[in-house]
Amino acid sequence: MSKKTVADLSASDLSGKRVLVRVDFNVPLDNGSITDDTRIRAALPTIQDLTSKGAKVILTSHFGRPQGQVNESMRLTPVAARLSELLGKPVKKFDDCIGDEVIQGVAELQNGDVALLENVRFYAEEEDNDPEFAKKLASVADLYVNDAFGTAHRAHASTEGVTHYLPSVAGYLIEKELKFLQGAIEEPKRPLAAIVGGSKVSSKIGVIEALLDKCDKLLLGGGMIFTFYKARGLNVGKSLVEEDKLDLARALEAKAKEKGVAFLLPTDVIVADKFAPDAEAKTVSINDIPDGWMGLDIGPDSIKVFQEALGDCKTVIWNGPMGVFEFEKFAAGTKAIALTLADLTKTGTITIIGGGDSVAAVEQLHLGEQMSHISTGGGASLELLEGKVLPGIAALNDK
Ligand code: 3PG
Repeated sequence: MSKKTVADLSASDLSGKRVLVRVDFNVPLDNGSITDDTRIRAALPTIQDLTSKGAKVILTSHFGRPQGQVNESMRLTPVAARLSELLGKPVKKFDDCIGDEVIQGVAELQNGDVALLENVRFYAEEEDNDPEFAKKLASVADLYVNDAFGTAHRAHASTEGVTHYLPSVAGYLIEKELKFLQGAIEEPKRPLAAIVGGSKVSSKIGVIEALLDKCDKLLLGGGMIFTFYKARGLNVGKSLVEEDKLDLARALEAKAKEKGVAFLLPTDVIVADKFAPDAEAKTVSINDIPDGWMGLDIGPDSIKVFQEALGDCKTVIWNGPMGVFEFEKFAAGTKAIALTLADLTKTGTITIIGGGDSVAAVEQLHLGEQMSHISTGGGASLELLEGKVLPGIAALNDK
C-alpha cells in the first residue's frame, strides 16, 4: 500500500502519544442493543496495536444521520460498552467530540487507555468538512489514524479535514480492505468473475462499467435483470424495469461483447403474483414470464449455469443479492451463490463480498467466516470498485 500505516509506527513513535483514530462504528442498533458488531470487531487490530505500543487512543465515529443535531437515540454509549467488552478493559466515553470535557478527559488518559468521543455528526460542521471544526477535533491529538473504511468515501472533517492538521496514517482495516478490493481489480488472479445483483441498474451502472474493464465474466442477478431482458425485447410481466435505462442496458451488453467479457444473465426466474413473503411463486424460463407476474429471484437452472461459470474462477467479487432474500420463498438464488462462494474459497479461490445487502445475506447464512474477505463498507466498497478515489484514504501521508 502506498500510504503510511500504523504498521510503520514503532512503540517509540507511539508511546505516550495521543492518537485520534477515525473508526466506522455506524452499527445496526435495535432498541439500544447492537445487532451486528462486525464493524467494532474490525477496528480491534488497530486499537490493540496502538494501545500495546503505549498510545492514548481517542476514537471518533459517526452514528446514523443526525443532521447536525444532538439526537439522544444516536449516542455512541452502547458502542462504548460493547467495545469495552471486546477489549476486556474500560473505554472512557465522552458526551461530546470537541470542547472542554474532551480536552480535560484526554489530559487524564494514561498510556494504553482508550476513549470514545460522542457522535461526530452531532455537529453539522462534520459533514461540511469545516476547517475550524477539523482543527478542534485534531487539537487534542499528536497523530491521526483513519481506519473507517466504511466512511472513507466521505470528505468530512473527521475523515479528511483533520489530515490537514496532523500526521495521518491508515489503520489495519483500511489496509486489509484495499488489499482485497483494490487487489482484486488491479492484479487479480484470473479468471476474475464479478457477480452484481440488486434491484436497480441505475445504482450499479458505475460498478458494472468499471468491472467490464477488469473482469473475465460478469454474472447479473437481482431486480436489475428485468431491465436487460426488456432491452432484449422479452416480456417481463410486472417485474421491476427502469424504462429510462433500456438503452444503457443494451450499451452495457454490447460493451461486454466488444471486450470479450462473458456476460451471463439468468436463464430462468422465480416469479410471484405479488411482492409479498406469502406470494404464490413458480419457476419459469425468462422467455415465458407471464403477464401480471413479477420476477423475485433467479431460478434453479440459472444457479447451475452460474455455478458452472464460477467453477474455474480464481477471484470472485460479489455485490448485490440475486433476489428478494428477505422473503424466504425468494432467497434460494442468493443462498446458492453464497454457498457456492464458500465452497470455492475452500479450494483456493479469492472470494470478496462487497456491499451492504450481499454482506447481510452472507452473514444471515453464517457464511461470513468462509469467505476470503467481507467488506465493512457499503458505499465505500462500491466506489472503490468503480475506481473512484476515496478522499479519506487519498488524504493520508504517503509512505
Ligand atoms: C455506512 O454505513 O455506509 C457508512 O457508515 C457511511 O454512512 P453514511 O452513508 O451515512 O455516510
